Formats: sequence, C-alpha cells, structure tokens
Amino acid sequence: MSDPREIVVHAHEVTKSYDGGRIPVLHEVSLTVRTGELVALWGASGSGKSTLLHLLGGLDVPDRGELAVCGLDPRTEENRLTLRRRHLGFVFQLHNLIPDLTVEENLRVPALAINRPRRETAARIRELAGQVGINHRLAHRIQDLSGGERQRTAICRALLNSPRLLLADEPTGSLDERTGATVFGLLKDLAERERITVVLATHERRFAEACHRIIRVRDGRLDEIAP
Ligand SMILES: Nc1ncnc2c1ncn2[C@@H]1O[C@H](COP(=O)(O)OP(=O)(O)O)[C@@H](O)[C@H]1O
Ligand SMILES: [Mg+2]
Repeated sequence: MSDPREIVVHAHEVTKSYDGGRIPVLHEVSLTVRTGELVALWGASGSGKSTLLHLLGGLDVPDRGELAVCGLDPRTEENRLTLRRRHLGFVFQLHNLIPDLTVEENLRVPALAINRPRRETAARIRELAGQVGINHRLAHRIQDLSGGERQRTAICRALLNSPRLLLADEPTGSLDERTGATVFGLLKDLAERERITVVLATHERRFAEACHRIIRVRDGRLDEIAP
C-alpha cells in the first residue's frame, strides 16, 4: 500500500569509511523516514550512529550510495548549506553553544545565517524559550547554566529556523538520569507540537522505546525492531 506521507530522509545502500577505507563504519545502510516520525537510532557506542547522523546532516559525505534529505542531495556544498540553514536542526551530546555568550545571543546565531528580521527573531526566541522553560535565563551566559538548561538552549537553537527535520545525537548523553528524561520529554513534545521529523541517536533503551520507530544500529548495519 502506498503511503501518502512525504519522505524526509531517504538513504539507499550508503557506505562510509574513514582513513581512506581502512576503517569501515557503515555498510550499505538504507533508511526511509517520513514526515512527523520520531525515529531512534539505537546502538552501542562505536556502532555508527553519529556517522550516520553526520551524513544526514551534511556534516560529512558518504563514500557510496544514495542520499536525499528534505529532497536535497547533501553531497554538494550548496545543498549542505541550504539544509543546515533552512531545513534541519542539529542537537549534539555536548551542546556546542558559545560559552561566553548569553542564551539569547546564542539563539540569535541561526537567525543571522538567514537574515531573519530582528523583531521576528526575538519573538521566536521567546516562544521557544517559553516552551522549554528557559525564559528566565535568556540574559545569562551559557557557562553559568546547568547541563539541562544548556541542552534546552541547544534544542531551541536547533529549532529556531523552524526546520522540518531535527537530528539529535545523544542529546541526553551528558545529563543525569532525571534531567535526561526531562530533556527527552521536552524534545518529544516540541517535535510533536512543531510537527517536525526527528532522528535521534541513543544508546539508552528507555528513550528508544519512547520513539515511534527503533532502528537498531550494530557494527554499521541497520535493523528495524518493534518499539
Ligand atoms: N573521523 C573519524 N576518523 C576515524 N574513525 C572514526 C571517525 N569518526 C568515527 N570513527 C569510528 O567509526 C566508528 C563509529 O563511530 P560513531 O559513528 O561515532 O559511533 P557511535 O556514534 O555509534 O558511537 C567508531 O569505531 C569510530 O572510532
Ligand atoms: Mg556517537
């Protein structure tokens, strides 16, 4: 039966190795993700989760195989730029925010890349910050925030330009158990509210089980299992 929902991520027999082929990482992996899905890439450390997310996010290029993300092939530099600026947001395990800048200043960065009007950006920042509960922290510097607050800021930054796709690489990996659960819950709520597609890498079963689909990643191979 055909599915009317749009394909956001299409990977077909994608292969990736490092060090000129000496370190094979992904072996002809295929994956299709449709609008609104929350998909977990679940696997042990070193299985290839980050490598796959980096390929999807245009942070790295595959050796072989087909790739289309939001309808664009991330193999050209121009498409990678368009994807990163307009179509997708990335949340890393370590927030990758600028520590000396305030929350608000960090959140303005993605808007600068697309020349969004300042007033519109300010409204969007307040909207997202309110949803993740960091409104009272906007004028504080990142270095003065807790780990959970930093990840909430990182999630806001990734969503600022209203992307269709959110790629999250172990977004709760550096948080304690309880804060991790809160941040995961926020991410899930926000994704549903904003109707965005999420591909999330995690080694934690409890988070994988809370997703719509679980893709088991083992030694650079994918295998879908029931959630
Ligand atoms: N830039 C790189 N150069 C060489 N090897 C790498 C590089 N990035 C990742 N690897 C190797 O690829 C394998 C998969 O890594 P990664 O995708 O980070 O796994 P995961 O995110 O599941 O922990 C690991 O063996 C790792 O050491
Ligand atoms: Mg990783």
